[in-house]
Amino acid sequence: LLATAIASAPIAATAADMTIGFSQIGSESGWRAAETTVTRLEAEERGIELKFADAQQKQENQIKAIRSFIAQGVDAILIAPVVATGWDEVLEEAQDAEIPVVLLDRTVDADESLYLTAVTSDLVHEGQVAGEWLATEMDGADCRIVELQGTTGSSPAIDRKNGFEQGIAGHDNLEIVRSQTGDFTRAQGKVVMESFLKAEGGENICALYAHNDDMAVGAIQAIKEAGLTPGEDIKIVAIDAVPDAHLAIANGEMNATIELTPNMAGPALDALEAYFADGTEPAKWIQTESKLFTAADDNQAIYEMKKDLGY
Ligand code: AHR
Repeated sequence: LLATAIASAPIAATAADMTIGFSQIGSESGWRAAETTVTRLEAEERGIELKFADAQQKQENQIKAIRSFIAQGVDAILIAPVVATGWDEVLEEAQDAEIPVVLLDRTVDADESLYLTAVTSDLVHEGQVAGEWLATEMDGADCRIVELQGTTGSSPAIDRKNGFEQGIAGHDNLEIVRSQTGDFTRAQGKVVMESFLKAEGGENICALYAHNDDMAVGAIQAIKEAGLTPGEDIKIVAIDAVPDAHLAIANGEMNATIELTPNMAGPALDALEAYFADGTEPAKWIQTESKLFTAADDNQAIYEMKKDLGY
């Protein structure tokens, strides 16, 4: 019994002794690229060796990478899970190998005993803030909304959709007329917006809700090419607050964005350091802040500041 207890206790380690595997989704968006950069920097500043694996948007690649991290005997694993389901088996394998797992920016449909903690924003709340912002902006006027969803089956696509619907609930003047995935990418955001404009007629679309800024930026291009003025003819609200969204708001081509910090690794590594130092169990959910930015903010200055930070 004692032997089992000793074996399952975290080994005291300084950050400099740690090797951590990071299974990243890919680089579908500006936000994702920023998260990768920040994670590398956070590890480097703490003297942690980071093994990085880019899954190119495929869950099977993530599972392979995690198995390889387990085989290499890393101290901990960070996972940004591309979709919400299908993780139980590999998480159990990590648990059997006594390797703590921390989820970054997205959640999974698995028992919470299978991971140490999840560092994410409140994804439902983000959608809700977007919906409430639009309801206030329209002030009772009729508005036909198109929605660009994130990657199908991912927790932000599911939660941001639900949150937005909650945010506009009770406002009979607001109606989502089209909703389709743009896979969180700029290119797909443009293609899908083009199809919305064609199907509905640009003058019949009053607002766009995009699950991330990159899709909104792609859609802005499509709206311009259709001869309409983004931000005026079609109101645009999205999520992430990447520099290009601040610039678009500063230029009047977008109206609002909700900030998602790319620094998920900071709180994750703090939690792992404490866990390895003295066994401190973090909360199961470490929630990051969500902040709404609109034209009322100095978006040009925020754009420059975020660019200077290497975002
Ligand atoms: O999981 C976070 C989401 O993933 C970001 O909002 C989006 O830009 C990214 O691809």
